[in-house]
Amino acid sequence: MQIVRTPSSSRAIARTLARPVGLVPTMGALHRGHLALVERAKRENATVVASLFVNPLQFGPNEDFERYPRSFDADAAVLEAGGVDLLYAPSLERMYPPGFAARVGLDVVTAQYEGAWRPGHFGGVATVVTKLLHAIEPTSLYLGQKDVQQVAVLRALLRDLDFATNVVVVPTVREPDGLALSSRNAYLSAQERAAAPSVFRALETVAALVRSGETDRARVLAAGEALLEAPLRWDYVAVVDPKTFVPLDPLRRPGIVIGAARAGSTRLLDNVPVAGADGIDPVLTPENPRRRNLTEKPASSRSMR
Ligand code: PAJ
Repeated sequence: MQIVRTPSSSRAIARTLARPVGLVPTMGALHRGHLALVERAKRENATVVASLFVNPLQFGPNEDFERYPRSFDADAAVLEAGGVDLLYAPSLERMYPPGFAARVGLDVVTAQYEGAWRPGHFGGVATVVTKLLHAIEPTSLYLGQKDVQQVAVLRALLRDLDFATNVVVVPTVREPDGLALSSRNAYLSAQERAAAPSVFRALETVAALVRSGETDRARVLAAGEALLEAPLRWDYVAVVDPKTFVPLDPLRRPGIVIGAARAGSTRLLDNVPVAGADGIDPVLTPENPRRRNLTEKPASSRSMR
């Protein structure tokens, strides 16, 4: 596995790679959730590139940028073992040199829920992902369903700014008790960890009620909210439109049940998509499945020349 550290060298090397190229962006502290993205990208591409960069632009002033877990050597070993061909791990100085002033912004999806709890967060994500896409120019960008609002933001970004990159969304990887894997789970106390699976249970309960045809928003949300175990507290639970993240009232399908719970200063995020009557999953299904064919075919279906 080759490691590159600057935007210009990474683009020069990326342009020589066998296509299609899959990019898996990460902030490190890797777990099986990240690896699921690598495995999927391996299956669908001739070359897999991972990036590892803890992006200060997406952390608020009182958030955990300084103490975010950093384990470069272990992460690089895991990526290499997972079959990653190229690791792009730029330094802070190369990504954001003195005088760096550009910001990428979106008018939709970025202001509510995670955007409201973390002002500036999605602008920081959109800015760094724009830079990563310019550095690698991948065929497909692999994202986890775990951060479903991030998926909506980045789908809108790539569509509206005409990036020639597809978004592929990989289902959330969970602990056996249902807790979604997250680098931040390491912050939980034993008591918080014991209560943590109640987040997913609550969201699943809400999703089941929506699937069963319940439309009364207040009643359904109250049923889910009541299932959260102490000492966790909700920041929000909602059923939202998959594209706009506007709350659905009355409830209907398709939708996404989203929730964030707080354990001290650690926030646990999760979501459960509710398919439409047509059975189409609003998160995992590409917005326009045909678009994938417009760019490049996966390696497995390319004809030999
Ligand atoms: P990070 O939190 O490291 O996550 C990298 C990718 O792994 C994201 O697409 C995230 O949704 C996915 N992921 C995390 N936990 C997962 C799980 N349990 N199951 C499936 N996928 C999971 O998200 C970021 O980094 C950053 O915002 C980034 C996109 C790299 C931009 O800085």
